[in-house]
Parts: sequence; structure tokens; C-alpha cells
Amino acid sequence: MSTASKTTEVKQELQQVAQAASSADHFMSEIVRLLHDRMLKYNWVGFYMLEQSPPAGQQPVLVLGKFEGAMTPHTRIPLNQGICGAAASTGKTVVVDDVSKDARYLACSLETKSEIVVPVFVKGKVVGELDIDSHFPAAFSAEDRDLVEYCAMLVGQRLENSRK
Ligand code: SME
Repeated sequence: MSTASKTTEVKQELQQVAQAASSADHFMSEIVRLLHDRMLKYNWVGFYMLEQSPPAGQQPVLVLGKFEGAMTPHTRIPLNQGICGAAASTGKTVVVDDVSKDARYLACSLETKSEIVVPVFVKGKVVGELDIDSHFPAAFSAEDRDLVEYCAMLVGQRLENSRK
């Protein structure tokens, strides 16, 4: 199956998952499970969410949320660190085809070769992000980016509705 038809199929499944999920948290668990199970090159899939109430005077950090894959040493990431920090602080998707050549990269697993991080927005503000690592170099094509951005958009909508 081509990547494009696979991502179209997974997008349809996501709509069903969105309807069945009982909460934003439940929806995020289902998304990481679905992407990890269905997309063969997605070896680690997880959300990092920005702290909602950081200690007084401190910048919020990204905190590991729902994930599928091996445990990561990076459970809290400051906004000025890592590819995760770059995506959250700029509000832009970051795709890294070869993590060994990116000085920002914080290693999670020695097997990781490429990574994509997509911010999640609520009312125009970054509230977290969806991070995916692959054991394959340049694993994230334009179709993958479109799929991951679609997931992040659905989560943003869900959070926005639940925070109303
Ligand atoms: N590689 C990320 C850290 C998180 S792990 O990939 C799960 C980064 O450079 O920010």
C-alpha cells in the first residue's frame, strides 16, 4: 500500500477514534496507539504537553504525556532544548531527516534516525506537541507530515472544546 493511501486510511480511523474517545486524554492515548500500531516506521510516538501552572517566575517546560514505545529519559524538556523545544517555541513543525546532523537533538534511543515534531494549538497558542521518532532515516514524507499535523489539529480542537 502506498504511503498516501495508508495515511488516508489512518485519517479515517482517527475520525472514528475521535468520536469514541471519552476525554482529550483518552483521545491522545488512542492516537499514539493507532499511529504506533499502523505506521510501521513510527517507532516512538508521544505527546509532550506544556506545564499549565509552572512554579512562580519559571518558564513552563514540556512534560511527557501519553506515549507508545520505549521509555525515554526526556520526561521534562525546557523550551530552549531539543527538537521538541524548537517546535514548541516557534509553533512550527520540525522534520529532521538525520538526527545525528542536528545539534538540537536530544537522544532518546540510539536507534532513532529521524524525527518529526508538530505543535498542538489551543486558541492560537501552543499547548503541547506530538513527537514521533523513527529508526529509519528520512522517514517522514509530506504525507506523513500531513497526517501528523492532522492528529495535532484534532487534539487541539478536542482540548479547546474541553476547556470551554
Ligand atoms: N528527540 C527529542 C527528545 C524527545 S525523545 O525523542 C522521545 C528532542 O530532541 O527534543
